[in-house]
Amino acid sequence: MASSGAPPCSALVPPCLFVIAMATLQSAVVFADAADTVAADRPLSGSQRLLVSSRGKFALGFFQPENSIHWYIGIWYNQISKHTPVWVANRGSPISNPDTSQLTIATDGNMVLLDNSTTAIWSTNISKIASNSTVGVILDTGNLVLADASNTSIIHWQSFDHFGNTWLPGGKLGRNKLAGVSTGLVAWKARNDPAPGVFSLELDPNGTSQYLLEWNSTQQYWTSGNWTGRIFTGVPEMTPTGIYPNSLYTFDYVNGENGSYFVYDLKDDSVLTRFVLGEMGQIQFLTWMNGANDWMLFWSQPKAQCDVYSLCGPFSVCTENAMASCSCLRGFGEQNVGEWLQGDHTSGCRRNVELQCSSNGSVVGRSTDRFYTMGNVRLPSDAESVVATSTDQCEQACLRSCSCTAYSYNGSCSLWHGDLINLQDVSAIGSQGSNAVLIRLAASELSSQKQKHAKKLITIAIVATIVAALMVAALVVILRRRMVKGTTQVEGSLISFTYRDLKSMTKNFSEKLGGGAFGSVFKGSLPDATMVAVKKLEGFHQGEKQFRAEVSTIGNIQHVNLIRLLGFCSEKSRRLLVYEYMPNGSLDKQLFDGRKHVLSWDTRYQIALGIARGLDYLHEKCRDCIIHCDIKPENILLDGSFAPKVADFGLAKLMGRDISRVLTTARGTVGYIAPEWLAGTAVTAKADVFSYGMTLLEIVSGRRNVERREDGTADILPLLAASRLVGGVGDGRREELVSAVVDGRLGGDADMGEAERAFRVAFWCIQDDENARPAMATVVQVLEGLVEIGVPPIPRSLQLLADESNYLQFFSDLLPSK
Ligand SMILES: *[C@@H]1O[C@H](CO)[C@@H](O)[C@H](O)[C@H]1NC(C)=O
Ligand SMILES: *[C@@H]1O[C@H](CO)[C@@H](O)[C@H](O)[C@H]1NC(C)=O
Ligand SMILES: *[C@@H]1O[C@H](CO)[C@@H](O)[C@H](O)[C@H]1NC(C)=O
Ligand SMILES: *[C@@H]1O[C@H](CO)[C@@H](O)[C@H](O)[C@H]1NC(C)=O
Ligand SMILES: *[C@@H]1O[C@H](CO)[C@@H](O)[C@H](O)[C@H]1NC(C)=O
Ligand SMILES: *[C@@H]1O[C@H](CO)[C@@H](O)[C@H](O)[C@H]1NC(C)=O
Ligand SMILES: *[C@@H]1O[C@H](CO)[C@@H](O)[C@H](O)[C@H]1NC(C)=O
Ligand SMILES: *[C@@H]1O[C@H](CO)[C@@H](O)[C@H](O)[C@H]1NC(C)=O
Ligand SMILES: *[C@@H]1O[C@H](CO)[C@@H](O)[C@H](O)[C@H]1NC(C)=O
Ligand SMILES: *[C@@H]1O[C@H](CO)[C@@H](O)[C@H](O)[C@H]1NC(C)=O
Repeated sequence: MASSGAPPCSALVPPCLFVIAMATLQSAVVFADAADTVAADRPLSGSQRLLVSSRGKFALGFFQPENSIHWYIGIWYNQISKHTPVWVANRGSPISNPDTSQLTIATDGNMVLLDNSTTAIWSTNISKIASNSTVGVILDTGNLVLADASNTSIIHWQSFDHFGNTWLPGGKLGRNKLAGVSTGLVAWKARNDPAPGVFSLELDPNGTSQYLLEWNSTQQYWTSGNWTGRIFTGVPEMTPTGIYPNSLYTFDYVNGENGSYFVYDLKDDSVLTRFVLGEMGQIQFLTWMNGANDWMLFWSQPKAQCDVYSLCGPFSVCTENAMASCSCLRGFGEQNVGEWLQGDHTSGCRRNVELQCSSNGSVVGRSTDRFYTMGNVRLPSDAESVVATSTDQCEQACLRSCSCTAYSYNGSCSLWHGDLINLQDVSAIGSQGSNAVLIRLAASELSSQKQKHAKKLITIAIVATIVAALMVAALVVILRRRMVKGTTQVEGSLISFTYRDLKSMTKNFSEKLGGGAFGSVFKGSLPDATMVAVKKLEGFHQGEKQFRAEVSTIGNIQHVNLIRLLGFCSEKSRRLLVYEYMPNGSLDKQLFDGRKHVLSWDTRYQIALGIARGLDYLHEKCRDCIIHCDIKPENILLDGSFAPKVADFGLAKLMGRDISRVLTTARGTVGYIAPEWLAGTAVTAKADVFSYGMTLLEIVSGRRNVERREDGTADILPLLAASRLVGGVGDGRREELVSAVVDGRLGGDADMGEAERAFRVAFWCIQDDENARPAMATVVQVLEGLVEIGVPPIPRSLQLLADESNYLQFFSDLLPSK
C-alpha cells in the first residue's frame, strides 16, 4: 500500500521525463560554457573556486589540506564526503591567498597558476603549441588535459603524464620512450603537505619490468619483482583476473616499442579506487566504501611499516603498533619538532651532546664516550663486521673510530658508522632476530643524568619533608570533594573521564587484558569497585569533536549481545574508551586454548545465536546502520555466564582510513575478511555476514579455519571438506559431517540437527556473491529453527583457495609468521 502522502506513480512520470529532457538539452547546449573548462577568458580564481568534470566525478580547484594554512590547485573526488586530493599542481609552491591567484591559460598556450595575477608559480610548461588556441579540461577520469580549444581530443599535455602520489584507473605508470619521460609516484612530504617527499615508486630505470619503492631515489626497500606475462613475481596475489574471480578491475603490463607501463582499469566505473604512495612510504590500494563513508585499504606493501627505509630517520627507533610509531633514542632529540608533529619523522633525531671526537675528528688518548644498551631491537643491516672475541674488544673497536655510533656483539662484532637508521623495537612482537645494540653517547650525557638525578633526589627529599604535612591536609580535603563531586563529568549516558582518573583506575595501566587491532586493553576498577576494561586507542588522527560525536553514537547503542560503552577520555592526543568488564574473556581463548574447559555444545550454540542477534541489531535495528568490519572470535567477549557480547563495534568508523591497514596486517584477521573486500569493491553489512560465517564454523569445529602449516602454506582443507559434506547431508550423512567437523573434544555430544543448521547457514554466509549471503536477521531465524535453509553451494573462492597454489600463497603471505 503506497503511503498517502506520495502522489501515485503515473503522476510522477511526466515531470520526470521533462527533467531528463532538459538535462539532455542542457548538456548539449552548454558546451561552449562548460563548467569543466579553464580558458584564457574564463580563469579559475578566487570567486570561482572549482570546476567539475562533465559527469560530476572529479573537481578541479583551490583547496587547503587539513590543518594547513596553504592553498593548492588540485583534483579531488567531487561526490564523496571525504576530501581526497588525487593530484596537486603546485606541490612544492603553495599559494597563500586563492582570491588573488588564478589558474588560467597564458598567451603562449600553457596552463599556468598565477600568484597575485603576475608570477607563474606553476605551468604546464610545454613549447610547440599555438598561442591563444588551448583550453584546460578536467575529465571524468580525473585527468586534467591541456587541449586544443577547437577540438578537445587533441591533447598537448595531461596530468596523467605527471602523477603526484596517486595513480588513478586508466593512467599509465611507467616509461614513455617516445617522449623520454617516466611517470612514477612521489609521496607527499607529510599528511598535510603535498610537497615531494623522500619516498617514490618507479619502473626500474635499468629497463627490467620491476617496480621499485625507493627512499631519496637511491635506496630501494621494496620491489614488485619482474612481470612474468601474467603476474609480478613479488605480488603473486595479483592475478590477471584479480584476486577475486568477480573482480571489478583488470590490469596489464605493456612493454612496447614506444613505452613500458602498467595500466589498470575498472569494469564498473561507479566504483572508486586509487593507488597511492602514502607519506609513510607504503603503496596502498584503496576503495571507497559507501557504508563506512571512508576509504578502505585492501592491499599494501611493504606489509610492515617499519620495513620502509628510514621511516623514522636517523637515531630513531620504529615500533610496529597498530600504526608504526617513531621515537628518538636516549640522548637524542627530534631534529625538527614541527615535522614530527605533522607525522613526518624522516629527518630523525640529533644528539643532545656531541661525541668527544666529532668536533675535530680524532680521538686523543682514550675516548671517554660511553655506551648504553638497548635490548629487543632488530638491527640495521648496514653493519661493518669486525674481528673481536669479546664485547670489550668490540667496544674498543667502536671507540677507535670517530664515525662509529653503535655496536652489537653476539659472538661476532658489528659496528655501525654515521647515521643509525632502520632500528626497530621488537619487544612487543618478540620476533626472532631480536638483539641488543649499544649506542654511543658522550660521557657527560650518561653521567650528567646521574648527577642531575642525584641532585633532584636531594631537593625532592627536602621539599617533601617540608611540604608533607601540608599535603596530607590538602589531600584529605581533595579526596573528600572527589567523593562528593567526582572529577568525572557525565555526557549523555557516558562518563567523560580524565586521563589521571583512568591511570589510577588501572593502577597505571598495569594489568593488560589484551591487545586488539585498535590498541591495548587494561583492567581497571571504578571507585565503587565495578570492574571495567579500559581501551587505549592507538594511531588515529581524529579531531576531538568528531571523536565525541562517534563515541556518543556508540554509547547510545545498547543490546544484550553488544558490549556496553561506559565512558571515554579525550585529552590532547589521548583517546581511551571504558567498557564493561567481561570475566570470561574473548571467545578465541575459550575455543582454541587447549588448557581451558571445553565449551559444551549448548553453550556454543547459544554463543552463535547471541552473536547473530547482536550483529542483526547493529545492522538493522539501531538508527545508523553500523558495519562492524572485524568480526572474529577475538572480538567476541563472554560474560560470567558465557553469554556473548560483540566488542569493538563502531571503531572501524572511529579509526577512519587507518582501519583497513590495521585489519589487513593484524594477526589472524585474514581468514575472516570477505573476498569482495580483498577485491576492492565497496563493502556492505554482508562483509560482516561473511566474517560471522567463518567465526561460526570455528565455534562448531573448535579450530581455526585457516591454519599455517610448518612449510608456510595455509591449511584450509578441513574447511573445504566440510563444505563438500554439507552438500551431502541430505542423504543421511549427518553422522559423517558431525564426526568430521564438529569439535572432537565434545566426544560426539552435539545436537545433530543444530549442527547441520549451523553448517548450512555458515556456508551460506561465506558465499562469494554477497547477494547470496543471508541477512543476519535470517541467520537468527535459521539458528532458532524458525526458518529452513537449503543446501548451500560450495563457495568458489574456497575451491580456488584449495586448488590454486597462488591463492594459498596469497593467504599464507598475509598470515603473520608464527
Ligand atoms: C602576493 O600577495 C601577498 C599578500 O597579499 C604578498 O605577501 C606577496 O608578496 C604578493 N606576491 C607578489 C609576487 O606580489
Ligand atoms: C619549464 O621548463 C624549463 C626547462 O624545460 C625549466 O627550466 C623551467 O623552470 C620550467 N618552468 C616552470 C615554471 O616550471
Ligand atoms: C593572444 O591574445 C592576446 C590577448 O587577447 C593578444 O594580445 C595576443 O596578440 C594574441 N596572440 C596571438 C598570437 O594571437
Ligand atoms: C578531433 O580530433 C580527433 C583526433 O585528432 C579526430 O579524430 C576528430 O575527427 C576531430 N574532431 C573534429 C570535430 O575535428
Ligand atoms: C641498475 O644499474 C646500476 C648500475 O649497473 C646498479 O648499480 C643498480 O643496482 C641497478 N638497479 C637495479 C634495480 O638493479
Ligand atoms: C639524498 O640523495 C642525494 C643524492 O642523490 C644526497 O646528496 C643526499 O644527501 C641524500 N639525502 C640524505 C638524507 O641522505
Ligand atoms: C628481474 O630481472 C632482472 C634481469 O632480467 C634481474 O637482474 C632481477 O634480479 C630480477 N628481479 C627479481 C626481483 O627477480
Ligand atoms: C609507436 O609510435 C609510432 C610513432 O608515433 C607509431 O607510428 C607506432 O604505431 C607506435 N607503436 C605502437 C606499438 O603503438
Ligand atoms: C681534538 O679534541 C680533543 C678533545 O676535545 C682535544 O684534546 C684535542 O686537542 C683536539 N685536537 C685538535 C687537533 O684540535
Ligand atoms: C650475530 O649477528 C650477526 C649479524 O646480525 C648474524 O649474522 C649472526 O648470525 C649472529 N650470530 C649469532 C651467533 O647469533
